[in-house]
Amino acid sequence: MKLTSEAIAARADSSRKKYWRRDELPDLSRFLTAEKHRIHLVGVAGSGMSGLAGLLIELGHAVSGSDKVSTTETERLQRLGLHFHEQHLAEHADAADLVVFSSAIKNDNPILLSARTFGKPLLRRAEAVAAIMQARRGIVIAGMHGKTTTSAMTAHVLREGGVHPSHYVGAEIPILGTNAHWNPRGEYFVAEGDESDGTLRCFHPEYAVILNIEEEHLDFYSDLAAIEKVFAQLIDQTSGSVLYNIDDPNTARLCGKRKCAVSYGFSEQADYRGTDVELRNFGSSFLVCRRGKKLGQATLNVPGEHNVHNALGVIALASELSIPFNKITASLGKFEHARRRFEIKYASDRFLLVDDYAHHPTEIRATLCAAESIGRRRLITMFQPHRFSRTKALCREFGSAFDHADRVVITDVYPASEPPIPGITGRTIVDEIVRRGHRGVTYQPRLRSVHRDVGNMLEAGDLVLSLGAGNIHEQLEILAADLVIAEKLKAIVSEEGEVRLYEPLSNHTTLRVGGPAQFWVEPRTEQAFAELIRFCLDEHLPLFAIGRGSNLLVRDGGIRGVVVHPHGGDFEKIEVEGCEITASAGVKFRQVAYAARAANLGGLEWMEGVPGTVGGGLRMNAGAMGAQTFENVTRIRYLDAEGHSHVKSRGELEVFYRRFPLLEKNFAISATFRGQPAERAEIDRRLRESQEKRRTTQPVAKSAGCIFKNPVTIPAGKLVDELGLKNSRVGNARVSRVHGNFIVNDGQATAAEVLELIDDLKRVARRKRGIELETEVEIVGEPE
Ligand code: EPU
Repeated sequence: MKLTSEAIAARADSSRKKYWRRDELPDLSRFLTAEKHRIHLVGVAGSGMSGLAGLLIELGHAVSGSDKVSTTETERLQRLGLHFHEQHLAEHADAADLVVFSSAIKNDNPILLSARTFGKPLLRRAEAVAAIMQARRGIVIAGMHGKTTTSAMTAHVLREGGVHPSHYVGAEIPILGTNAHWNPRGEYFVAEGDESDGTLRCFHPEYAVILNIEEEHLDFYSDLAAIEKVFAQLIDQTSGSVLYNIDDPNTARLCGKRKCAVSYGFSEQADYRGTDVELRNFGSSFLVCRRGKKLGQATLNVPGEHNVHNALGVIALASELSIPFNKITASLGKFEHARRRFEIKYASDRFLLVDDYAHHPTEIRATLCAAESIGRRRLITMFQPHRFSRTKALCREFGSAFDHADRVVITDVYPASEPPIPGITGRTIVDEIVRRGHRGVTYQPRLRSVHRDVGNMLEAGDLVLSLGAGNIHEQLEILAADLVIAEKLKAIVSEEGEVRLYEPLSNHTTLRVGGPAQFWVEPRTEQAFAELIRFCLDEHLPLFAIGRGSNLLVRDGGIRGVVVHPHGGDFEKIEVEGCEITASAGVKFRQVAYAARAANLGGLEWMEGVPGTVGGGLRMNAGAMGAQTFENVTRIRYLDAEGHSHVKSRGELEVFYRRFPLLEKNFAISATFRGQPAERAEIDRRLRESQEKRRTTQPVAKSAGCIFKNPVTIPAGKLVDELGLKNSRVGNARVSRVHGNFIVNDGQATAAEVLELIDDLKRVARRKRGIELETEVEIVGEPE
């Protein structure tokens, strides 16, 4: 029976059955490869579906597709002619002669419902791929781990061997150009077979390569026996040779007795045997023998012993297809990984960032071993479990899969299409890892914070791996992009300076709240600071300077761009000359007070009570004991927004109560303060007075100093006190019992809590006293 469009239309009227039967495959094969039809793909953005769309377009069909998301892949396909809809609508089925759906699509999808109602032909993805394969000499690569790499390697070696294969692989393959390609010239069709949903049984290839078989996809299969049954059927349906990994016991048991079975691996019994394996940076070399006879040496530029295994499978297959060994090894040496298969996202002498799709414990172990063989100092892993069912079924195995990693950050489960399973989260795996005694594991339920946790723990010599089949790679990509900038910043501040990614600003503010600084930079020289300013200007990176963080409230989302902390080196100099003390931006106010005392200079004792640095104190014209910074300043030196240095004397500066506009866009380098000669005893008396004032009127708890500027009519602390708001709180942020103008952090307070409390105080002051309180603390950063 020829399955023409008319035939399909006729059947649509009479039939209500769900799928075509397999015995119709020859006709279907013709329908897909020798005729032209209108075909709609439901879930077209999926990695397997997009490949099929590409094939069908190349085969000349009018292809439409729907998905709830658009991706770079769907955009690429649209350029090739895909008619894409970012929504699943029942009418898509009406316009098509055939509807193909992904196994991720739920039964109640409107297109499937409509297709069923109107008896429209419906196919699963694998059924369509298998039918296309029928038109060629089929090669199926199957197994739990390594399918994508091995099928890509096979297609590449066959292509280089002049065989002109068509291919269908489940990921983007840079070396092949696309994930799928129909080559009208060649005889062979190489396809990655998907065992996850049982559709492996659809294939009737001429050759099958079986990589490994173990427990996986236990959401679909009841046990290993059920998995093996599907593989056994594929093996039965293979008309020519089955190439199998003899080192994998389940595979060897299933394939070993079959006639026309060709084994490969490290075992002495292997038909194609690898020996003398040497793993090295990102690759390996090994010797290959066929049935005891030496074929020669092969090299790989993809890392890990597991890839030597994969390559042996490809060598066995290609040799059976009579491709000469020297051609095979020449092309293997050139093979580059598929996307997300040990894909290097960033590489420098100091850091290496690699992304891998590993999501099964066996794959994780193999990838970590490969990573270890590269020989970096530490191995840091971020892992996103994939599917609740797998997390539950294999949590024990996951517990031991990370033994080779120094640090592991685990985030929550990527559900794929699954509903949650109560009690199963990323923590399930963390608990298992901890139970095995691993000390370097942490749980970060928020995926978007994972790159920050990992970035902040980086040290030179680290290899960072992102692992998982969901979207964890996006976290590594953010980290890689920021690392590019961080490395440039490091070059600017040189060895002596410090650059850290995502440094929590709660560690650098006296209130101990605040999210991370995207780039935390500590230059040690004025020249490095100037260069940093120019770099930020050129790169359009915001630049914010922070001293001791004593009058600063950083929001919980942290500060985007560079946070510069001039500290140490040039920034801790303090010099006394006559009655003048010149102190660099990183010097603490308290140090200035004591340097003045040592030189018998009076008038600067009040500085003892200011917790900030010279840079910070200048910026806000800090004050205490009735005095203000600029009353003692004679001149300042600063860098402008282009990194040029300037000196300005007091008379040239415009200064207000708790505000110094010049430093809102420029950066303090140093200030010169003037004292008056005074008796040491008198200086000591005033220092004691200041200390006593602080001790008796201010809290010792974590705070940002006074929150509000003093209104002209009443000190803010007194006002808050009179309003009866002392000790009022939002979460862990509380108004001090000691002083009404201090908010203290009782524990893990958040910036959001402090801000809410500030708003409460302002609201009550406005309502009850008509006073508009204005904050003195500088509030910066992004909300979370
Ligand atoms: N007061 C109350 N109840 C309170 C707090 C204060 O009645 O809960 C009364 C005090 O008794 C006093 C008046 O309010 O009569 C002013 O209080 P205080 O002398 O403590 O001084 P302040 O104006 O609140 C200023 C600075 C402080 C500095 C102190 C001591 C401002 C906004 N604050 O506080 O600076 O340490 O003087 O010299 O000018 C800072 O700026 O971060 C800071 C802590």
